[in-house]
Amino acid sequence: MADKPSFYITTPIYYVNAAPHLGTAYCTIMCDVQARYRRAAGYDVKFLTGLDEHGQKVEEAAEAHGMTPQAWCDSLAPAFTDIWQTLEISNDDFIRTTQERQVRAVQYLWERMKESGYIYKGSYDGWYCVPEETYFTETQVAKSDEANHTEGQHLCPDCGRPLQRVQEESWFFKLSAFQDRLLKFYDEHPDFVMPGFRMNEVRSFVEGGLQDLSVSRTSFDWGIRLPFDNKHVTYVWFDALLNYATAVGYGQPGEEAAADYARRWPAQYHVVGKDIIRFHCVIWPAMLMAIGEPIPEHVFAHGFLMVRNEETGQGEKMSKSRGNAIAPQDVIDMLGVEGYRYYFMRDVKPGEDGAISFNRMDQVYNADLANSWGNLVSRALNMSAKYFDGKTPVLPAGWAERESPLTEAASGLYERYAQHMDVFEYPEAIDEVMALVGAANHYIEDAKPWALAKDSAQADELAFVIGGLLEAIRISAHLLAPFTPETCAEVLRRLSLEGEIGADDLAATCAWGQIPGGLSVTKGDALFPRLQKKD
Ligand code: MSP
Repeated sequence: MADKPSFYITTPIYYVNAAPHLGTAYCTIMCDVQARYRRAAGYDVKFLTGLDEHGQKVEEAAEAHGMTPQAWCDSLAPAFTDIWQTLEISNDDFIRTTQERQVRAVQYLWERMKESGYIYKGSYDGWYCVPEETYFTETQVAKSDEANHTEGQHLCPDCGRPLQRVQEESWFFKLSAFQDRLLKFYDEHPDFVMPGFRMNEVRSFVEGGLQDLSVSRTSFDWGIRLPFDNKHVTYVWFDALLNYATAVGYGQPGEEAAADYARRWPAQYHVVGKDIIRFHCVIWPAMLMAIGEPIPEHVFAHGFLMVRNEETGQGEKMSKSRGNAIAPQDVIDMLGVEGYRYYFMRDVKPGEDGAISFNRMDQVYNADLANSWGNLVSRALNMSAKYFDGKTPVLPAGWAERESPLTEAASGLYERYAQHMDVFEYPEAIDEVMALVGAANHYIEDAKPWALAKDSAQADELAFVIGGLLEAIRISAHLLAPFTPETCAEVLRRLSLEGEIGADDLAATCAWGQIPGGLSVTKGDALFPRLQKKD
């Protein structure tokens, strides 16, 4: 393990005020695809997800259900772990901010902050949005009230829900002291925020000036207590952001934790939604600068899933009140788990907002999975079984060097695919693989193996054609595996190639010309049965 490079990737930790939804599942699948791809490409991966359990929002949700906050969190946590298991999420760790390790790390952070001189005690007098767990200044609120004509009512400039007035004693983090250092850091690390256009947003926010941040609360209890000021609990974001470091040993006793931290930190990727980039790209790096810890390599911000209105063609915000919210289970019921994963990764450009709809799900599933990929596997495996006595054809030495439409499509494929995968360009990476799948389907039509099979003089040619098709399938199964792991593993099993699953040199595995002859071929059921129109 030790000689493999470390690759540490995280999802945001989700609030336990409600059940997991399409947006949280989307982000988690996106990370899972990256984690699976990197494992196959030879990295020693740690993939972390978890739950953000403290704060006023969770406390209020618990109260509304007549439960203590801890009992509430415990009752909801399985909804997350269960759906992640269903969706084949391969996380290596699951953190909950109420765990002992997080309490220890946050208290350790407070001590380091105190030593650093970047915190001080004062009093906060301003606005707070509970659903967003965010502070707003008088000026931000006044500006937004004016722009939105809220007439005396003070609404959150971000989410539009009513704000609370907060006046309380508080500890502050001197965020204002970090403006220059942050700007210098962005200059030196232009790909810290991805995609690139989001960097401009972050930079102009910082250029506009930073205010010190209230990082402790005294008006409620549900949080981690300050080790040196017991009346105060930690502001939920100050607590939550640290989870990424906690999970790799920050603030934990023992040599093992220290070694883990040295190996894993800084993280390669925090993947987050565009609504929480300021926390990850401004506050979090400033916190790390204050305590002298390294800053993660990249924050990748994805867009929002919107529901496509079929009449206007426009994306609309998903919400229960509009009646257009789609639950993960609805999509699983329609597409199955692998169809679900494939659809979101294929149809939504990760940096942008995506307009999703049941119509598109139907189209993408049928076109790509049922008609193209599923059909190719079924036809090629059937023909191999039929013409070669239930086996893969035995090919003469040097067959792999002979050119065909398949070698053309497979040439340089891994490099193109990897270039896209490395930067979360999943639709483009899938396009590359689907080009090979499409070429293979055409090749069947052009080469007409059923005609070759009738002529014994064409036996070698038939073996060459079927062997090529199976080789294209083998390679495609490896490249699609991060998206649809179970069906790809099934394809390789049907070719008696389960031994290749879990190999960690994807480039070598995907080099053309390796399918062995004489392996048992199992035909099996359709991988992706066509969706029937329900009406
Ligand atoms: N607890 C914080 C994160 C702390 S990380 C140190 C939080 N939690 S959340 O549960 O409210 O949101 C988690 C993620 O879901 C965010 O990244 C957010 O962008 C994402 N999404 C919420 N709705 C979404 C869509 N409609 N589409 C895509 N993602 C969306 O914020």
